[in-house]
Amino acid sequence: MVEAEEIWVEKYRPKKFEEIVGQQEIITRLQTFVEKKSLPHLLFAGPPGVGKTCAALCIAHELFGDGWRPNFLELNASDERGIDTIRTKVKNYARTRPIGDVPFKVVYLDESDALTSDAQHAMRRTMEMYTHTCRFILACNYSGRIIEPIQSRCAIFRFKRLPEKDVTQMLKRIARGEKLTLTPGAIKAIIYVSEGDMRRAINVLQAAAVMNKKVDEKVIYDVSAVARPKEIKQMLELALGRKFEEARGKLYYLLIAQGLAGEDILVQVHREIINLDLPEHAKIKLMDRVGEFDFRLREGANERIQLEAMLAHFGLIGERPSG
Ligand SMILES: Nc1ncnc2c1ncn2[C@@H]1O[C@H](COP(=O)(O)OP(=O)(O)O)[C@@H](O)[C@H]1O
Ligand SMILES: [Mg+2]
Repeated sequence: MVEAEEIWVEKYRPKKFEEIVGQQEIITRLQTFVEKKSLPHLLFAGPPGVGKTCAALCIAHELFGDGWRPNFLELNASDERGIDTIRTKVKNYARTRPIGDVPFKVVYLDESDALTSDAQHAMRRTMEMYTHTCRFILACNYSGRIIEPIQSRCAIFRFKRLPEKDVTQMLKRIARGEKLTLTPGAIKAIIYVSEGDMRRAINVLQAAAVMNKKVDEKVIYDVSAVARPKEIKQMLELALGRKFEEARGKLYYLLIAQGLAGEDILVQVHREIINLDLPEHAKIKLMDRVGEFDFRLREGANERIQLEAMLAHFGLIGERPSG
């Protein structure tokens, strides 16, 4: 059994560069900065859960050693009370000299693309003002949302979703640490549900392991509110083969027995269409329908009616002999 207070994403958070899996080119470049004890301002762009915060913390650990804490300030652009609070915090923090032999401190600003363009201009002035004593690491999902004057002052690093082999490596490391048995089917399932997001992969594994030290495919789908890809595929094939009643039965099973949300089912339908054995133009028609029904669900239409209507449409598309 897992002890309740331990959160594995924190317990297994890398403290050294060599513990980070994947993102190899990025890590190599960052290591060079750290070895020279010389760091430009950095911009980390990329999706959630792929190692941006980890990389920043590794920089701090390796630059400052055990005394890293007072030399590293972490702020979040979206939950602070606006840019003025952020600038005040930076100002207070930057006023005192760094502790140790590195001539600067590090400020990590998460979700910096949540700042408005005006706030970003203010942020840029702050960066400039304290550039002798502070290095800034700005993290964001989309670098395109960061104003050009900041981009041009930063070395930009693009973090990518983690590929299968990297997620697998981390899952196996945790399985060893927690003495879990992970079936190959469970690893495959975690990779499917986490889509390259390591935070999600680890959280799903931990949720599954609460029930049993032996983790298999079934538990993963039970804890993750995601349908097995083959169930979505079956539903689509039934609909395309005009077995409407059966397709609808499958849909009800997913919505009611599995308790999935309509929007999540639609996202999975979108993912599965690409894998169907269908001619290109039929896939295009299906995708076009998915777009339409996605919009309707977002507008608040009844999800059961809309998803059934979508399956009915799929029957019409599947019906034509040439696809
Ligand atoms: N590349 C990675 N190598 C090892 N663990 C990772 C990696 N990326 C993410 N993780 C795990 O996922 C959690 C979240 O990662 P984090 O760096 O905070 O993501 P973000 O990119 O959203 O800042 C970490 O605590 C760590 O356990
Ligand atoms: Mg982060």
